[in-house]
Amino acid sequence: MENENNQPMVLCDNLVKIYKTSELEVMALQGLDLAVEKGELIAIIGNSGSGKSTLLNMLGGLDRPSAGRLLVDGQDLLKMNRQQMVLYKRKTAGFVWQNNARNLIPYLTAIENVELPMLISAVKEKREKALNLLDMVGLKSKKDHQLFQLSGGEQQRVAIAIALANDPKLLLADEPTGSVDTKSANTILELFKMLNSALGLTIIIVTHDMQLSRKVNRIVNIRNGRTSSEFIMTKSYLEELEELEENQQAGEVSHIELSVIDKVGRLQIPAKYLESLGIKGKDKVKVALEDDRITLQPYKLPN
Ligand SMILES: Nc1ncnc2c1ncn2[C@@H]1O[C@H](COP(=O)(O)OP(=O)(O)OP(=O)(O)O)[C@@H](O)[C@H]1O
Ligand SMILES: [Mg+2]
Repeated sequence: MENENNQPMVLCDNLVKIYKTSELEVMALQGLDLAVEKGELIAIIGNSGSGKSTLLNMLGGLDRPSAGRLLVDGQDLLKMNRQQMVLYKRKTAGFVWQNNARNLIPYLTAIENVELPMLISAVKEKREKALNLLDMVGLKSKKDHQLFQLSGGEQQRVAIAIALANDPKLLLADEPTGSVDTKSANTILELFKMLNSALGLTIIIVTHDMQLSRKVNRIVNIRNGRTSSEFIMTKSYLEELEELEENQQAGEVSHIELSVIDKVGRLQIPAKYLESLGIKGKDKVKVALEDDRITLQPYKLPN
């Protein structure tokens, strides 16, 4: 294709996911739009139940969307058959979960865990590659440790090495720092940043940790299964790094918050703005166009 290189790595267009159980239907994604460029590293934030893991599972090919469009690296995930899906999971997407039990096999050593998913068959090659990957995540010296001999943060780094074993194009991490302390969380984030810049890997990290997400250039906020706003870093990455070096407990990086207007013109307004003007759901507001801005005003019906 002519424009293949300009295509984003991820394109979600009006993506819908409905979970059906015997009693009820949950609409976990309600028409989500998102584009992630090749080589980008973004964080996804949002309240519990907003659809973050659902989105990541769709992106990882672990479950299928109900409607809309989802393209990853030009591949249409709604049109894949089972076999194509298996290949997709092996070759395109790498996954890191919060829970180590899901990432790692406890009775194997670090290096054995990393070798496990590798497709290449020669034993020597596998060992070499696994060693390189452990080196990349800073754990070469602990390659023969079993999992119980590694800290939570170290186990998470092994999980990242595993996710990289088949050279994915997209790395997905669902709360990768959810169960480690702040220091380990920072090490893990630095590792993601290094992988992003050194390998040009596209990375999407779901996190609850606002401090952590502030260190990422672009943060996408999901509300009720939809992209509601984005925070874009207003300083260059380099400036940020310098600042971090000067001030170790930093994180004072400023982002601007941008709301996302969907295709039919709907907009989610930050709850705190509505609260401060006493506007509740289903209230009516007066919308006006004033030169270069659109304003919203609470509107009370005349008695
Ligand atoms: N397998 C499932 N079957 C039925 N409902 C589900 C399933 N998985 C998720 N849901 C529902 O879909 C909605 C979105 O869930 P999801 O796990 O994506 O949220 P989340 O943003 O990851 O939350 P958290 O921050 O707590 O991890 C929730 O209402 C959840 O109960
Ligand atoms: Mg989740």
